[in-house]
Amino acid sequence: MSRLLTWRNEWCLGIGALDADHRALVEALIDISLRYCPQAAAPVAFPRGVPAPGTGAASGPRGLAEALTAFGDKARAHCRREEAFMRAIGYARRAEHEEQHIVLMAKFDTMVRECRARGILVFDDIGQEWVRDWLLGHIVGCDREFARVYFSLVGMESACG
Ligand SMILES: [Fe+2]
Repeated sequence: MSRLLTWRNEWCLGIGALDADHRALVEALIDISLRYCPQAAAPVAFPRGVPAPGTGAASGPRGLAEALTAFGDKARAHCRREEAFMRAIGYARRAEHEEQHIVLMAKFDTMVRECRARGILVFDDIGQEWVRDWLLGHIVGCDREFARVYFSLVGMESACG
């Protein structure tokens, strides 16, 4: 069974739209982890002629890389929404945060390219942990800093710890 993640409320920023996006990204990662974890790819006793999950025609030989590419597109779209939100409230460090998104997505794209080039078909614990740390490091780091500034600007306190 995948070691990755279930959503934890401690990752909330208290900004509904962004939390919903972050949660959807975590859930998309869980889905990829379950579909491409080593156990899903193992040659289990499947009915004759029916491919095992993660190994058959439905997933295709490049299934993992394609799933991660689609996940990257979701993450990129989220970054654009987050940046639009920052622009709307006049966040002073928006340009810096945008740079962080560029670096973040470049690291992800490099990982997917390597995955594709090396023909990696299984999302093992190391891969799952890499993506988890990649995503959560940003959410609990830069995004939380943004949320702190946001709540001080609007004169409220986040409902999240
Ligand atoms: Fe961000």
